[in-house]
Amino acid sequence: MAEFSLPANSVVKQGTVFKAEEGVKNIKRFIIYRYDPGSGENPRTDTYEVDMDTCGPMVLDGLLKIKDQMDSSLSLRRSCREGICGSCSMNIDGANTLACTKAISDIKGDVKVYPLPHQPVVKDLVSDLTNFYAQYASVEPWMKTDSATPPDRERLQSKEDREKLDGLYECILCACCSTSCPSYWWNSDRYLGPAALLNAYRWIVDTRDEATGDRLDDLEDPFKLYRCHTIMNCAKVCPKGLNPAKAIAETKKLLVQRKM
Ligand code: SF4
Ligand code: SF4
Ligand code: FES
Repeated sequence: MAEFSLPANSVVKQGTVFKAEEGVKNIKRFIIYRYDPGSGENPRTDTYEVDMDTCGPMVLDGLLKIKDQMDSSLSLRRSCREGICGSCSMNIDGANTLACTKAISDIKGDVKVYPLPHQPVVKDLVSDLTNFYAQYASVEPWMKTDSATPPDRERLQSKEDREKLDGLYECILCACCSTSCPSYWWNSDRYLGPAALLNAYRWIVDTRDEATGDRLDDLEDPFKLYRCHTIMNCAKVCPKGLNPAKAIAETKKLLVQRKM
């Protein structure tokens, strides 16, 4: 795991300016965080003048144009370019979001791009999400049952019970929420953070799952769950419109109810 992490929007030294070709009129400047922990050099921001007449509409289009045509050393993650895989999460114009669904035209002035805040940096815009994924795995996000599987069909659910999973199952694990949560910044070693907690709740309310009690027992912990102070950054930034803070509040409610 990379050892260095720097909050997004920290003031870092300006690096190279990559000018647009002569005659290009419609320019948008991308200011991009650059850091290679293996190089021994400090982080910097490089500036790229992008020709918008030959660029697609999204920030990811701009980044790929830069990588393909101006500076192949830029590192970033992406896969689906449809807001489905969660790979292209980064901090754009001061907020965590997906580069593939963020329109360049929505950004006034320069396009400032940083990695997700408060995570170790592997290189440039690539964050090390090892801890984030381990926390997701720790909530055991799969169906657990003791009863025998029905011999002739799946485990069925009523329409109403299925609807309880709406607003939860859509999570794409982009980490935009957890890395915008101040409680997670300061306690990410012990606080599970909004993404893992939303997914924990997704299995707690699944009526087919038979480990609800164990799942709640596991969250009854001063750090894992109770570091959420309802600051709501998580719900504000989620690119899928989910509300992890609500899932956390519902989990806390269930923990209280079962003691009554
Ligand atoms: S509501 Fe809770 S989980 Fe969401 S940002 Fe705030 S403290 Fe973090
Ligand atoms: S809840 Fe939203 S912001 Fe958080 S990981 Fe899932 S999709 Fe991303
Ligand atoms: S590339 Fe898959 S979510 Fe952006």
